[in-house]
Amino acid sequence: MVDQITAAMAAALIFLTGAIVALLVRSRRLAAERASAERQIAELERRLAAAETAQEAAESAAIEKEQLAAIGELSAMIAHEIRNPLTIIGNAVTTLRRRETTPEDRATLFGILEEEAGRLNRLMNDLLSYARPVSLELQPVELREVIERALSLVPAGGGVDVELIEPEPVGEVLADPNLLRQVFENLVTNAAQAMSHEGGTLTVRIERSAAGQPSGVNVLVEDTGEGMDTSVRDRALLPFFTTRPSGTGLGLAIVARFVRAHGGKLELKSAAGTGTTVRVFLPREELRNDVGESHIRIKQRAAAAAARRAI
Ligand SMILES: Nc1ncnc2c1ncn2[C@@H]1O[C@H](COP(=O)(O)OP(=O)(O)OP(=O)(O)O)[C@@H](O)[C@H]1O
Ligand SMILES: [Mg+2]
Repeated sequence: MVDQITAAMAAALIFLTGAIVALLVRSRRLAAERASAERQIAELERRLAAAETAQEAAESAAIEKEQLAAIGELSAMIAHEIRNPLTIIGNAVTTLRRRETTPEDRATLFGILEEEAGRLNRLMNDLLSYARPVSLELQPVELREVIERALSLVPAGGGVDVELIEPEPVGEVLADPNLLRQVFENLVTNAAQAMSHEGGTLTVRIERSAAGQPSGVNVLVEDTGEGMDTSVRDRALLPFFTTRPSGTGLGLAIVARFVRAHGGKLELKSAAGTGTTVRVFLPREELRNDVGESHIRIKQRAAAAAARRAI
C-alpha cells in the first residue's frame, strides 16, 4: 500500500516538474517574442519619426521656395518702380553739372529732382502701407466726418464738383479711423484724377445696407470721369498696376486690403467714358448706444481677431 502511495506521489511529482518546465519554456518563448515585437515597434516608431521629419523638411522647403518666389516677384516690381525715378534723377544731375546749362534749365531740373524724390517717398510710404501687417484699432467712427475730410482733398476750381449725399444719418461705424481715412483719400483722389481733364461731378453716397442684405453701411464713390475699360478694371486692384505716369499703382491695392481687414467688401463698376463707381461695404457693429461697454470691447476683440485671420 505504502509502495503504491509512494509511486503515485513520484508520478505526480514527475508530472508537476514536467508541467513547470513546460511553463518555464513557454514563458521564455513569450518573453523572447515580446522583446522581438518591442524591437519591431521601436524600429517602426523610428521610421515614422524619420518620415515625419522628412515631410516637415519638405514642407518648409516648399514654403521657403514660395516665399522666395513672392519676394522675388515683389522685388522685381519694386526695382522697376525705383529704376525710373533714379534714372531721371541721374540724368538731371548729369545735365546740372554741365557748364552750359542755363539758369532756366537748372530751375526745371531742380523741379524734376524734387518731383522724382517726392515720387520715391510716396512709393516708400505706399509700400509700407501695403506690406505692413494690418493691426486694427477699432473705435466708433463718424463716417461722414472721415469722408468730408477726404473730399477736402479735391482742389477747388479744378472743374470737379463735389456732392455728399446721406439720405438718413448712418451715425458711427466701428472701424480704424486711420485706415478708413486712407481708404477714402485714395478713392477720392482716384476719382478726381479721372476727371482732371474734362472736369465732372464726384458724388459720395453714404447709406445703410438694404433690408435682407448683411447689416452695414455702403459708401458709393461715384465719378463722371474717364472710366475704365475691362482690361484696366480687371487689373485695377493689383499692386503696382497703374495707367498714370506718376502713380505707384498701390492705391486700390491698399484700399482693398484695408476694407478686407474690416470684414468689408469692395466693388468696382466702371466702363470707358462713363465714369466709375466704387462701393465700399463696411459691416455694422453694435455701438456704445445700443449695448453695454464691456460687450463692445468683446465685439471689438472678436472683430479684430476675425480681421487678423482674414489678412
Ligand atoms: N476712379 C477711377 N476712374 C478711372 N480709372 C481708375 C479710377 N480709379 C482707379 N483707376 C485705374 O486703376 C489704376 C490703379 O489705381 P490705383 O489707385 O491703384 O493706382 P494709381 O492711382 O495709378 O496710383 P497711386 O498708387 O498713386 O494711387 C489707375 O492707374 C487707373 O487706371
Ligand atoms: Mg490711386
